Amino acid sequence: MIKRYTAPPSSSLIDALAALQARAYATTGMRGWSSTEIAALVAAPATILLVAHDDKNHPIGFLLASVLEIEVEILALAVDPALHRRGIASTLINSFEQADVGAEVERIILEVAENNLNAIFLYETLRFRKIGIRRNYYLISGTRIDARLMEKRCFSG
Ligand SMILES: CC(C)(COP(=O)(O)OP(=O)(O)OC[C@H]1O[C@@H](n2cnc3c(N)ncnc32)[C@H](O)[C@@H]1OP(=O)(O)O)[C@@H](O)C(=O)NCCC(=O)NCCS
Repeated sequence: MIKRYTAPPSSSLIDALAALQARAYATTGMRGWSSTEIAALVAAPATILLVAHDDKNHPIGFLLASVLEIEVEILALAVDPALHRRGIASTLINSFEQADVGAEVERIILEVAENNLNAIFLYETLRFRKIGIRRNYYLISGTRIDARLMEKRCFSG
């Protein structure tokens, strides 16, 4: 089940999301955000949080995005590593597009590390395309890695 939050959720859920992100991002060598960082982001007026819960109501994935009039940015996406390749990230992104990407939005953008092939495959499957590179944007395990900028156009006009 996907739940959508526009106001900050409980601190226990924020802590669970920070732990989930740490587990998920560990598979990429990247660090997740602290509970404090997630809480600050969720408190910002433009931020949307979508959480996927299992049938016991435990969080198993989440998406954080910033909706700024004609442009939407996906800030974070994480799925429990034990549950990858079950469509959870796709469901989060599709739910987000249906609920939060209005007719006025021209594009959804995001940044992903060039060596994060799982995420790049996911975004390409969902029709995001590469629009640029930020050189040496990430520091992952002591190595500088480029960021790939990707976008999905929301209308053809
Ligand atoms: C990237 C991530 C969010 C994908 O989550 P997920 O729930 O496993 O993704 P989905 O099951 O929705 O995958 C949908 C499609 O994306 C593609 N895909 C996703 N992971 C893939 C992989 N490891 N290899 C190849 N294709 C992959 C496939 O086309 C897949 O469809 P299929 O399983 O029917 O072939 C997850 O791997 C994760 O949490 N990674 C760590 C955090 C991260 O990298 N976040 C993104 C930062 S920008």
